[in-house]
Amino acid sequence: MTILITAGPTVEAIDPVRYLTNRSSGKMGYALAEAAATMGHRVILVSGPTQLDVPDGVDFIPVESADDMYEAVANWIKKADIAIMAAAVADYKMAQVAEQKIKKSADQDTLTLQLVKTRDILGSARQQMNFTGTLIGFAAETEKLITNARNKLQRKNCDLIVANDVSRADIGFHADDNEIVLVSEQGEEPLAKASKEHLAHVILEKAIQLATK
Ligand code: CTP
Ligand code: CA
Repeated sequence: MTILITAGPTVEAIDPVRYLTNRSSGKMGYALAEAAATMGHRVILVSGPTQLDVPDGVDFIPVESADDMYEAVANWIKKADIAIMAAAVADYKMAQVAEQKIKKSADQDTLTLQLVKTRDILGSARQQMNFTGTLIGFAAETEKLITNARNKLQRKNCDLIVANDVSRADIGFHADDNEIVLVSEQGEEPLAKASKEHLAHVILEKAIQLATK
């Protein structure tokens, strides 16, 4: 099968020297890419900047901003049977990127940046991108994990949401381990805390089961 995976953070320019980003390490998305390639699938990895090595045998599409990632996914998702959106995409970007470096003001102690919403890549897969394959999203939550994940499952027309409690330091963004709950129409499947590599295999097995049923 062909599996498209988004991973890592996005980077949104403020001016020529500054940017907005988030704490995503990309580990979960890269673990998924590695596992899928090892299983013999074709992998298209669309990734924001990370410190990680690109797994062998994957087609790598590096991007920076949420807009870049949207365009790359819109272009490549046509080829995919399964799409897994593990990226931590910026929800907001600068209304206008400053062309010159923003100077420190001599008389203003505060600075307000005006941000506008980015497009929701996962939320656009079905309608705007006409994706009919198996669609899997993540939900990064600090509270009401299952309720929020289930809302995302419905709102974004996904087959599966991987719910992730990012308020805990021992799991999530920079950690090597994760503890997740698989949320689908069928119900909730909590998985015991394990390495991101192990969980990647479990998520992929579930994805392939959903794709072949
Ligand atoms: N996502 C996306 N494009 C965006 C924002 C999010 O594709 N512009 C995807 C993420 O990759 C993830 C899922 O949507 O698979 C959920 O991301 P999350 O940040 O948890 O949810 P949001 O819908 O952005 O809502 P909020 O941040 O307010 O919880
Ligand atoms: Ca978000």
